[in-house]
Amino acid sequence: MKILKTVTGLRKQLTASSLSPLGFVPTMGALHAGHLSLVEKAINDCPSVVVSIYVNPSQFNDPEDLKKYPRTPEEDLALLSGLMRKSDLVFMPRDKEIYPEKDTRVFDFGNLDKVMEGVHRPGHFNGVAQVVSRLFDIVEPNIAYFGQKDFQQLTIIKELVRQKGYKIKIIACPIVRENDGLAMSSRNRLLDPLIRKNAGIIYKSLLSASQMIKTHDIPEIKKFVSENIESFNGFKVEYFEIVDDKNLLPVMSAGEMKSGKGYVGCIAVKAGRIRLIDNIEFPLP
Ligand code: PAF
Repeated sequence: MKILKTVTGLRKQLTASSLSPLGFVPTMGALHAGHLSLVEKAINDCPSVVVSIYVNPSQFNDPEDLKKYPRTPEEDLALLSGLMRKSDLVFMPRDKEIYPEKDTRVFDFGNLDKVMEGVHRPGHFNGVAQVVSRLFDIVEPNIAYFGQKDFQQLTIIKELVRQKGYKIKIIACPIVRENDGLAMSSRNRLLDPLIRKNAGIIYKSLLSASQMIKTHDIPEIKKFVSENIESFNGFKVEYFEIVDDKNLLPVMSAGEMKSGKGYVGCIAVKAGRIRLIDNIEFPLP
């Protein structure tokens, strides 16, 4: 694989040697098996692949979070070199390549960025849209791969593609989990050992919740999820919502769930000092 640090260098390489379809996996580095599953899928599907590694400041609403976000460029490159082909590209730009001038664009995603993460991380999705649209403009991929763990982000990126008329197919890839069910995340390595030991409770609670929909109404399920997770010291549920998988509107009662529609239970948990998100598909009651 080749490593490029500038937009000019990347464009030159793409013009000289990329084959169609061009696959793209945007990441913020600190790569784990979840990221690698996206890269593997892209390599399987596409004769040319670009992986970007860029920690995007504009999507961090909390400067402390940006400061402590894990950065492991050497390990990332070692992992990628075990997978990527000679002609595939890794793009590792500096801030000035992505934002030669301040990005003042404000996106309108209607309800999609007003719920869940949008409430708890104001401005986050605007920053995601800024960087993803900038990366799409630079790389010009045919197919882009995103993890389903960031379900709200995925929905917003599909809407971004629709609004901007990008001819890019968005592929959603399944969540990869640790043995105890914890969804893989770059932030997991920041968890205190005792918190990490108990963090499997998040997925276990989601699994039980998705089964409870057959016999319990949504307020009871929400109460169960919060109490079950918060029975462990240091865990606090920020939100747990069961939402329509297209418009992300929360469902308040099982009676509102209609056949022909899809529903996802989305959760954010403060686990010690670290914020974790996860989600699970909900069956119909
Ligand atoms: O999901 C992520 O890692 C980031 O939000 C993304 C899509 C790479 C944009 O910075």
